[in-house]
Amino acid sequence: MQRGNPLRSAVDKRLPRIAGPSGLVIFGVTGDLARKKLLPAVYDLASRGLLPAGFALVGFGRRDWSKEEFQDYVREAVQARARTEFDQNVWDRLADGMHFVTGAFDDDAAFDALASTLAEADRRQGVHGNWAFYLSVPPERFAGVVHQLDRCGMAKPAEGQWRRVIIEKPFGHDLASAQELNKVVNTVFPEHAVFRIDHYLGKETVQNILALRFSNQLFEPIWNANFIDHVQITMAEDIGLGGRAGYYDGIGAARDVIQNHLIQLLALVAMEEPTSFSPRQLRAEKLKVLRATSPTGPFSETTARGQYTAGLQGSVPVVGLREEEGFDPDSKTETFAACTLEINSRRWAGVPFYLRTGKRLGRRVTEIALVFKRPPYQPFYPDQTNLLTNNAVVIRVQPDEGVLMRFGSKVPGVGLEVRDVNMDFSYSEAFTEQSPEAYERLILDALLDESSLFPTNSEVERSWEILDPILEYWDEHGEPDEYEAGTWGPASADRMLEKDGRTWRRP
Ligand code: BG6
Repeated sequence: MQRGNPLRSAVDKRLPRIAGPSGLVIFGVTGDLARKKLLPAVYDLASRGLLPAGFALVGFGRRDWSKEEFQDYVREAVQARARTEFDQNVWDRLADGMHFVTGAFDDDAAFDALASTLAEADRRQGVHGNWAFYLSVPPERFAGVVHQLDRCGMAKPAEGQWRRVIIEKPFGHDLASAQELNKVVNTVFPEHAVFRIDHYLGKETVQNILALRFSNQLFEPIWNANFIDHVQITMAEDIGLGGRAGYYDGIGAARDVIQNHLIQLLALVAMEEPTSFSPRQLRAEKLKVLRATSPTGPFSETTARGQYTAGLQGSVPVVGLREEEGFDPDSKTETFAACTLEINSRRWAGVPFYLRTGKRLGRRVTEIALVFKRPPYQPFYPDQTNLLTNNAVVIRVQPDEGVLMRFGSKVPGVGLEVRDVNMDFSYSEAFTEQSPEAYERLILDALLDESSLFPTNSEVERSWEILDPILEYWDEHGEPDEYEAGTWGPASADRMLEKDGRTWRRP
């Protein structure tokens, strides 16, 4: 029976996906993230015709900028990074709706000026009081900004209007601080008006995890402990941390990436089928699997952390973390982190989930590999299957987005030799459409009040709860191991899997 099927109605409701009258205020607009991602994404939305006429883009920051200077700054960012081609007409319309308010985050007068700017834009541009406030600022600033928005009456919508807050990670540095932040934010904005960004959820390939699992008959029947030996989630980057000391030193790879991106990937891979793709059902299923997830010990064997030393990236010599500008020469910050998680459920009992991430690794790749068990019996002589490894399904999140299946096949010839082959689906070959950038999708969703791709306060807190014991253990036990830039991390990461008779994939 198709009528009334919640999966269908959830999809139908999404059309058309054009934002209604609204405006976006960006705090931290002069920062790296705004320049490289947010402003280009706003332009891309405009050029795809997904923003309303009269859309207002308001920057708030300490620079003493006129409207024209702000427009020049945005234009430069857009021309350097936007995905879509620069079109003068699109630009002119967008630039027309821009404003800049000068001030610090604790400056009452500046927030009063911001309130007047918004009121003016409501009247002149037809924003109708529908504002999203994007906090692209360090977490210690969240509370101040949120209180100011409250004080000036900007957080409370009048009848028929909406106000939303979009919050960048990191959301806290452990469970206690995340709870504290949630409390502060939720005293001013109700939970339904809070959009916490995890930009990995905005990636096409990440959204495809659920489509792959739940729209096919091929995968789901074998997506469990009866067939799967273990799961590896890898987010490897080749870049170093030059220029990011202010944010990264003292934070490290586990807080930067495992607590959010990698645990979210785990939730999508491991969750049960939701009864619909409505935000409520989807997030309920994610939370359920996260509640069943915990770190496996002993941490001396099941986790690894490392810090890159000087080495070669490709053929280019690069410095180690402690020599990077702005880093403490005695910094203990880890640039590589790996851990083992388990999920206590019928579906996943006994299947380790190995998570790893690192900077200055061999190459940039994010993937989820589901590695299958060996067949219970092989009717071949051992030397006929020497080159056969475990079957695997690999979801390639980036780059070369796609899905790969590895299985055994007979080598052509008179003998009988079986070895691994790959069947490879690639987005770029299968589709002509280009994937939107994650931030395009997420900013649009926030304007549309579509919250499926934003983790809830409970998900964020649960993720810290999973990670905190490992962070505490690391705090108490020495320093990260070393690994040479351009390699695949410290030897301790290899030992982590070797003790279980397994090895990391070399993607
Ligand atoms: C961010 C991290 O969340 O994700 C960065 O703070 C990391 O350290 C970045 O480089 C990677 O994002 P992407 O989309 O390039 O994989």
